[in-house]
Amino acid sequence: MDKAHLDQNNCLVFETGILSDHTLHPIWLRERISGDKYIDVNNLQRLYEPSLLENTIKIEKFNISKDFFEVTFNDGKSGIYFIKELFDEINEFDPIPKKQSWKNNLKELPFHDYSIIANSKDNLIKMLSDFQKLGFVILKNISKEKGTVIKFAQSLGPVRSTNFGEHFDVYSKPNPNDLAYTGLALSAHTDNPYRKPIPGIQLLHCISNEAKGGDSTLVDGMAVEEYLKKHHKPFHEILSSTKIHFRFTDKDIILENWGKLIELDEKGKFIKIRFSGRLDYVPLLEFQKLSLFYEARKKLFELYASKEFEINFRLSAGMLLMFDNHRLLHGRSAYDQNTGFRHLQGCYIEHDSTEGKLRRLLKKH
Ligand code: OGA
Ligand code: ZN
Repeated sequence: MDKAHLDQNNCLVFETGILSDHTLHPIWLRERISGDKYIDVNNLQRLYEPSLLENTIKIEKFNISKDFFEVTFNDGKSGIYFIKELFDEINEFDPIPKKQSWKNNLKELPFHDYSIIANSKDNLIKMLSDFQKLGFVILKNISKEKGTVIKFAQSLGPVRSTNFGEHFDVYSKPNPNDLAYTGLALSAHTDNPYRKPIPGIQLLHCISNEAKGGDSTLVDGMAVEEYLKKHHKPFHEILSSTKIHFRFTDKDIILENWGKLIELDEKGKFIKIRFSGRLDYVPLLEFQKLSLFYEARKKLFELYASKEFEINFRLSAGMLLMFDNHRLLHGRSAYDQNTGFRHLQGCYIEHDSTEGKLRRLLKKH
C-alpha cells in the first residue's frame, strides 16, 4: 500500500508509489470526484460547475488501498480515485502512438489493403496507428470510381469543404486557378497555408495515372526540422520565428493568412510546417534578418528536395494516399498529358477525426 500525508497546504502528498513526485491540491481532487451524483454516466460530463466549488475546500481524511484511495472533504463529499488513472492524467498519457520522424530510409512504405481494413477493426487500428506515427498511409485495392475519396474520408470524419468544393479534381484544365491543375511538376509543398485554419489532413485518390511522369513525392517536415535544429541552429531559429504572408487569388476570392515556415510550441516542440513557394511572401525585414532568412529558406528547400529526406512512389488507379498536411510535404513530377490521362480526386479532413477515432478504437479494445 502506498503511503501519503497531508502537507501544510492540505495537499495530499504521496511518499511512495507512482504518484510519489506529486502534490495533489484539495480542489484538484475534489473536482475529479466520480459517481453518478457528480458525473453523467452516459457522457462522463460533470453535473455541477467546478468554478462554484468553495476555495475553502479541504481534505478531512483519506484512506489508501491497493490501487485506489478514498478522500473525504470538509463539504461532506467523498470520492474514490484510481491511482493509475491519476498517474496517466498527470503524465498526459495518450493511447495513440507518438510521431516517429523518417527519412528516405523507411524500410517499407505503409501500404494497407482497403479490402481488409473495411472489414476489420484490428486493421483499421493498424492503419490509423501508422498514420499517427509516420504522418501518411497508402491504401491499395480501393474502388477506382469517382467519389471514392469522399466516401472514404467520411468513414473517418467530416470532410472539410473549401472554395474548391467538397472535393477537388486534380487534372490538367484550361485556365487553371492552381498550378496543381496543370502537368507541371509540383515541388515539395504543404497545401493551402493561406486558409484559416489550414486543412489538417489531405486525401488523394487515384482514378487514373496513365500519363508519362506524375510520380508522387513525400517528405517528413518534422524530420527536416529536427535536422535543422541539430545542424543549422541560426536557420532553425529564423525559420521558426519569422511570420510569412500566404495568399491565394482567383476571380471569386482572395484568401490570406500568416504563419511561420516552422511552427513550434512554447517548449520548442514541433507543431507544424508551412511551405508553398508559389504563394509565400516574407515581410520586408531589416537587411541582416532578411539575408539570413533567404539563406535559411534556400537550405530548407534543398533539404525538402534532397534524396536524404524525400521518398518517391507511384499512385495507380485504386490507390489512395492520406497524409498529414501540417507535418508532411508532398509533390509530384511533371507529366505529359498527351501520353495518357491522369486524374486524382482530393479532399481534406481534420486531425480530430483520425486521432479521435483511433483513441476510441484503442479504448474499446
Ligand atoms: C495538389 C497536389 C499532387 C498530385 O493537388 O495539391 O499536390 O500528385 N497534387 O497531383
Ligand atoms: Zn498539393
